[in-house]
Amino acid sequence: MEPAVLETENLVKVYGRGANRFDALKGLTLDIKRGESVAVIGKSGSGKSTLMHLMALLDRPSQGVVALNGRPVSELKNKEIHKLRNESFGFVFQQFFLNPNQTVLENVVLPLKIAGLSKRERNRRGLEALELLEMADKAKNKATDLSGGQKQRACIARALVTNPSVIFADEPTGNLDSKTSEVVENILFGLQRDRGITLVIVTHDDDLAAKCDRQIYLKDGLIVAPEQSNTARSEAASSGEPAPSGQEATEPWAGGGSTASRASELGKEGNR
Ligand SMILES: Nc1ncnc2c1ncn2[C@@H]1O[C@H](COP(=O)(O)OP(=O)(O)O)[C@@H](O)[C@H]1O
Ligand SMILES: [Mg+2]
Repeated sequence: MEPAVLETENLVKVYGRGANRFDALKGLTLDIKRGESVAVIGKSGSGKSTLMHLMALLDRPSQGVVALNGRPVSELKNKEIHKLRNESFGFVFQQFFLNPNQTVLENVVLPLKIAGLSKRERNRRGLEALELLEMADKAKNKATDLSGGQKQRACIARALVTNPSVIFADEPTGNLDSKTSEVVENILFGLQRDRGITLVIVTHDDDLAAKCDRQIYLKDGLIVAPEQSNTARSEAASSGEPAPSGQEATEPWAGGGSTASRASELGKEGNR
């Protein structure tokens, strides 16, 4: 049995306080083995992104433990956490979070800039990642000039450029048509197969979830059995309505909320 790359124990996350208190995660214990692909599935608001942010060390839990390679992260200083996150993890978000004023290559090499590599080495590795994604010819284009699928491939190149052990993908195909989604999914699972990269994929999409080695179903901040999770498909099936899409955008803090602000925090690190 492969060792756990990530473990959580009794993970609790509370947002706000007093009358505004919201218990987003209510005690989650799980582990993710090296090299496996895990889908975190559940309807909008169930706590998927919150769990991902805690496991990816983008946020700290209110209670409980996150351990990376057997070591509890709470023992580490902020600076060490930033370094570890930058070295060990790659991120792919639904909203892409590419800097529109920069070229594709500049966007892709951002994690290497944070890590302090020389420009020459950054560009060499950035181009290598873009080649792998069949995007080398777009290296000098502005990020805004890309199609949705190309943007997501640029994001995957950025996620790969540090040679991470884990890629976290939050609704990676949420903004893509079904054909482009399939291309992006194949790339992600190819990285798992060929490079042994662990995949943690947050999704509404039952089909994408089914392609992962294992599924973790969330409901109201707790891990539940699949039939209790009320995912998009089971709701749609019971109500006879089509599965909802783009639900995240209707959440009150969408755009300025946790994912967006965390990603802009990542961007800020690059400007130091
Ligand atoms: N920064 C925040 N402040 C207050 N509430 C939040 C914040 N982030 C998430 N929430 C709330 O926590 C719950 C879980 O959110 P999230 O983890 O984003 O769910 P999911 O990704 O499954 O849609 C939601 O009800 C959401 O409104
Ligand atoms: Mg989410």
